[in-house]
Amino acid sequence: MNKEIDMSTAPYQLPQPNYMSPDLILPNVLSEWLKDDNFWVPTSKFVSFKPLLLHASSGYYINLLRVRKSGILSRHRHSGDVQALVIKGKWYYLEHDWIAEEGSFAYEPPGETHTLYVPTEVSEMITLFTVKGGYTYVDPKGRAIGYEDVFTKIEAALEHYSNENIDENLLKKIIR
Ligand SMILES: [Fe+2]
Repeated sequence: MNKEIDMSTAPYQLPQPNYMSPDLILPNVLSEWLKDDNFWVPTSKFVSFKPLLLHASSGYYINLLRVRKSGILSRHRHSGDVQALVIKGKWYYLEHDWIAEEGSFAYEPPGETHTLYVPTEVSEMITLFTVKGGYTYVDPKGRAIGYEDVFTKIEAALEHYSNENIDENLLKKIIR
């Protein structure tokens, strides 16, 4: 008699595809990762980022951005879309009438130019950003004055982590 084996709770049985990237788990991103440590990569005296995934081959990155000053942070144009989840504090764009507060999700479409503003009462803002493509920093008339993308993020992280003697294995896990 043929007795059928119940496979409903079995894990996937076949090999994964060739050339697949390794998976990644970063525990405690919303607790331990928010602490002030030397994994934050400073981009200025008051602004730093902590990378979660720097995906060079797909041209995007996911990072926590931390800002410890109020006022205009930057005016920039996006070549790809951006998804933002506010972890702490609040911010808005001068071009919009909405405010991204703690717990808010925001979507920024490709092609948009806007000016990020942190209100004066906010001493620290932390937001999880998923950024496709690049930022072009512009003046109010749209003239380009700088840029940032996954490659500039990788360079900044490599430089900071080598100065801080941080184990390169972490960066090898998060750079693809
Ligand atoms: Fe933006």
